[in-house]
Amino acid sequence: MHKTTVDLGDRSYPIYLGIDILERLADVYRASALPSSVAIVTDSNVAKLHLRKLSAVLHRCGIHTSSMLVPPGERQKSLARANGLYTRLLMQQFPRSDALIAFGGGVVGDLAGFVASTYRRGLPFIQIPTTLLAQVESSIGGKTGVNHLLAKNAVGTFYQPRFVFSDVRFLSTLAPRELICGLGEVIKYGYLDEGMFKFLERHLEDVLRMNLDVIEDVVFRCNALKAGMVSGDERETNATGGRMLLNLGHTIGQALEVLSNYRLRHGEAVLIGLQLELMIAREARLITSADATRIGALLQRTGFEPRPQNLHLQALIKNVFRGKNKPRFILPTAIGHVIATNEIEQSLVRHVIRSFSGK
Ligand code: GLY
Repeated sequence: MHKTTVDLGDRSYPIYLGIDILERLADVYRASALPSSVAIVTDSNVAKLHLRKLSAVLHRCGIHTSSMLVPPGERQKSLARANGLYTRLLMQQFPRSDALIAFGGGVVGDLAGFVASTYRRGLPFIQIPTTLLAQVESSIGGKTGVNHLLAKNAVGTFYQPRFVFSDVRFLSTLAPRELICGLGEVIKYGYLDEGMFKFLERHLEDVLRMNLDVIEDVVFRCNALKAGMVSGDERETNATGGRMLLNLGHTIGQALEVLSNYRLRHGEAVLIGLQLELMIAREARLITSADATRIGALLQRTGFEPRPQNLHLQALIKNVFRGKNKPRFILPTAIGHVIATNEIEQSLVRHVIRSFSGK
């Protein structure tokens, strides 16, 4: 079992990773000096597949569990759903000394983390991610939150888990669409790190074929990169680099996700965002065409084909710029290198989106 540490002083925590490691959760849990009673927040899909097994492992080491199920999907990241969970916790007189486990993908992790950080001013919180996106990205770093009608992730907290426990075996039941979503975030790490990029160039098809040994390696590499970035800039206050660089692909991706009314999933939107932001970097002559071509070829090998005809150019531009003259983009400058810039002209972005969508 791998162990990667997010180094945050007295709030440091480990990310455990391996294949078929669920049985070892009991030891990890006991060693973390956590309460003997937990509430598991999960969605109905994950519950059907894995909840009984997780509960059994915890019961065997004397931990009392209760569970709270939410429907799947981004719409559950709402204050209304958080309020429903507070009500359930209050009705069972759940004390502040007990713990909350997020068991699922990014939506469950963000929602449960938000509830854990706010219910009675904070519960001990554990992340057990079951999707590729959650194992490489959203379960790490303590960003929690829900969406507001006017903006994604608008209401949230920074609240670190006590540990993250990723069993890659959970990914073997992943729907193909969820794998693609995870790849959006994985390839983002390829933009950030040359070693990761080269690894993906060699092994992307193994990931697509669900080779769990290769996927474990991918998750491990992403965990190490993210742990370093979060350790250095937990609250994303570094204005020129640090954690903010993880928003690569998100300036356009997030706008697309919101505009699609969340029909486009987060990772899919990030994949399109990565593609468009690569085109912007190339058009702005920030990256050589040789490097841009190499990155573009990797994106193409995912087999994900966005539907550009559905893009509403005006609305997308409005969402990307949100009243700013020049929004911040994180753009690739070479394989494994990116910069944050506020220097991209609206006309250039408009041109790129237009040529991408064939309009
Ligand atoms: N998902 C970006 C971050 O955790 O900072």
